[in-house]
Amino acid sequence: MKNFSFANPVKIIFGKDTIKEIANEIPKGSKVLVTYGGGSIKKNGVFDQVSKALSGYERYEFAGIEPNPHYETCMKAARLIKEKGVDFVLAVGGGSVIDATKFIVMAACFEDGDPWQVMERKATIKKALPFGSILTLAATGSEMNSGAVITKAATQEKIAFNSPLVFPQFSVLDPTTTYTLPSKQTSNGIVDTFVHVAEQYLTHSKEDTLLQDYMAEAVLKTLIIEGPKALKDPHSYDVRANLMWASTWGLNGWIAKGVDEDWATHMIGHEITAFYGVDHGQTLAIVLPGVMEILREQKAKKIIRMGKEVFGINESSDEAAINKTIKAVEDFFESLDIKTHLSEYGLGEEAVEKISKRLNDRGWKLGECQNITGDVAKKILETRR
Ligand code: NZQ
Ligand code: ZN
Repeated sequence: MKNFSFANPVKIIFGKDTIKEIANEIPKGSKVLVTYGGGSIKKNGVFDQVSKALSGYERYEFAGIEPNPHYETCMKAARLIKEKGVDFVLAVGGGSVIDATKFIVMAACFEDGDPWQVMERKATIKKALPFGSILTLAATGSEMNSGAVITKAATQEKIAFNSPLVFPQFSVLDPTTTYTLPSKQTSNGIVDTFVHVAEQYLTHSKEDTLLQDYMAEAVLKTLIIEGPKALKDPHSYDVRANLMWASTWGLNGWIAKGVDEDWATHMIGHEITAFYGVDHGQTLAIVLPGVMEILREQKAKKIIRMGKEVFGINESSDEAAINKTIKAVEDFFESLDIKTHLSEYGLGEEAVEKISKRLNDRGWKLGECQNITGDVAKKILETRR
């Protein structure tokens, strides 16, 4: 097991009817900005619960944060914070709203020019306003991590950043808020969580990390058991609760400790979203089976382990076990009605070339062995035509 240090300061408030507890977490007298997306929270009653809980606070709202949140939108919210003297932010939504808020609370305090420099790794984050979140979509783990992904619409760049200064102070996870998710978003979230785990587990790891492996497999098994049930019965509290908690543990840092990490699937997937607007989860469903296929030798041991521990695959030959496991992953995504080939999203050779060129131009060497270049990404995407 590799050396590591682990600190996750986020207070999680989990369960039915917990939104009202934000009044115990936000300092009295705060000037609060509520950030949210396109308005789903106004249709599903979450906004009413937030308003009631915030009675007595001076409150402002910033709506319109788009899926795959834009830097340009975030900057408007940062300006509003300065104008009104806001000193606490409450993000209400899915990963896009929470990610945008992580950028906004940093940008509002950034004094060295354009905060986009942080995304270009030309500046570091020195300060950020405190914020909390109310999660309404189980997927990204953003509610309990210090990462975020922001898109600069002007240049079609979708870039991740990370800083311990942008952990939420608290996150409220009330599974009933996810009852209103369109099934595509439920499925996107399950795929996203599955691939988060794969990025931290399905690697050429020489490390012996038995506990992390079992924890990773526990999240994967929860997704496989509960995922189809959520599509059949979206209002099942227990199913939604299991999925919500699994998504948080998929990317709150815990299973990443002591192990090698990949993240190539995400980095390639982000480009499919940046250039073509395909949902994050859908891009991962396309790319992961391709990464497993092209890196099958490098990842053989863990692919076979995933097959056995998660899908119950026991084959006499490694070859057959690897083939069956890659197929099982693809079939699982398809069972959630998430297509796994580029052509099913209207994408072809042009997309493969464009993405491969961008990765080569950036000189990126992705994956746990830093051996996935733009050319290797091309081979991966070719298998997913
Ligand atoms: O606009 P709103 O009203 O929020 O509607 C959203 C949006 O249209 C809707 N929705 C959310 N909760 C709902 C709901 N509709 C009905 N009922 C509810 N309860 O669903 C749509 C998608 O929401 P979004 O927040 O975009 O989805 P998700 O949570 O999957 O977040 C995706 C974003 O997270 C980033 C992705 O890159 C993408 O930008 N990620 C963040 C990570 C992190 N911070 O650690 C890691 C991930 O790998 C991922 O990259
Ligand atoms: Zn993801």
